[in-house]
Amino acid sequence: MTGPGRGRRALVTGGAGFIGSHLAEALVNAGWSVAVLDDFSTGREANLARLRGRIDLIRGDVCDLDAVAKAIEAAEVVFHQAAVPSVALSIAEPLRTHRVNLEGTVQLLDASRKNGVRRFLFASSAAVYGDGDGRPVSEAAPLSPGSPYGLHKVSGEMYCRQYAMHYGLESVVLRYFNVFGPRQSPKGEYAAVIPRFASACVEGEAPRIYGDGEQTRDFIYVDDVVRANLLAADARGAEGAILNVATGRPTNLLELLETLRDLTGARTEAKHEPAVKGDARFSLAAVARACEVLGFRPQVDLREGLRRMVAGAAAARS
Ligand SMILES: NC(=O)c1ccc[n+]([C@@H]2O[C@H](COP(=O)([O-])OP(=O)(O)OC[C@H]3O[C@@H](n4cnc5c(N)ncnc54)[C@H](O)[C@@H]3O)[C@@H](O)[C@H]2O)c1
Repeated sequence: MTGPGRGRRALVTGGAGFIGSHLAEALVNAGWSVAVLDDFSTGREANLARLRGRIDLIRGDVCDLDAVAKAIEAAEVVFHQAAVPSVALSIAEPLRTHRVNLEGTVQLLDASRKNGVRRFLFASSAAVYGDGDGRPVSEAAPLSPGSPYGLHKVSGEMYCRQYAMHYGLESVVLRYFNVFGPRQSPKGEYAAVIPRFASACVEGEAPRIYGDGEQTRDFIYVDDVVRANLLAADARGAEGAILNVATGRPTNLLELLETLRDLTGARTEAKHEPAVKGDARFSLAAVARACEVLGFRPQVDLREGLRRMVAGAAAARS
């Protein structure tokens, strides 16, 4: 397979999902030839609407050897985003999520070494750290995942190291904190907090807060996560690095809701429900390392990111 365009070849797994579709678009715009492998379990065709005819789209499972072999052909860099990315779902369905999140990752690593991939970028997560104490957590902090999902990411990271050690496959682990932006689904029991709040504010419904709302998160806008990936694909000396991808700024859910109320003019009161099992109380990153290794600094602050999201949603409704 040669793929559309003549640029360098990338495979984006989970490329029909929220982060993966933004990444695929940025890669195409930067002149890469892109293959997307996705089983559309949470990904959507609409996320790839702007890329129709400009990427090779392979519908398939990351655990399916044939689909992976087809998707990875000629790839120089693999951006492995596919996963069942939910703490709650990993507790509800540990076997299914283990298969996709861990076996899928090993499958991709193995196909990468057999196909001469130069660099493998692994979408890991702040979930590897477990609950914080409110202070910024550096990459050297002990890992203590509070859910099977966090454990899948820890194990995936360790497999990246094994493939570097034994087969010389360059890998960069990017530990995303709470990513937000357009195309993130507000629907379903496992939706992330920002799209849920934003959608409730826009629809005039009561946003649901699990717990007291004092829990903090380090929210990062999706375009910044995409930039970190593009830098990590090429940065010299980044191979083997494990990097937090975050802003280093904590926001609690009550503050988040207040900002969204302010941006949308919504007046509805929040409804409190019991805290979710396995959810961290505090999550905040130390961000110096990604800056040192990649020269990465986030460019979009929370309010501006939320403004773009709300404006995009309003434009889509009109
Ligand atoms: N969104 C966040 O805040 C966040 C934070 C930390 C880490 N991450 C990680 O980033 C990556 C992307 O997350 P996202 O938020 O874009 O989620 P998403 O659900 O929008 O994207 C995941 C994509 O993977 C695809 N997929 C799932 N199982 C698959 C399988 N078996 N085979 C092929 N494709 C499959 C889905 O269809 C979807 O398109 C995930 O690895 C996730 O764990 C996300």
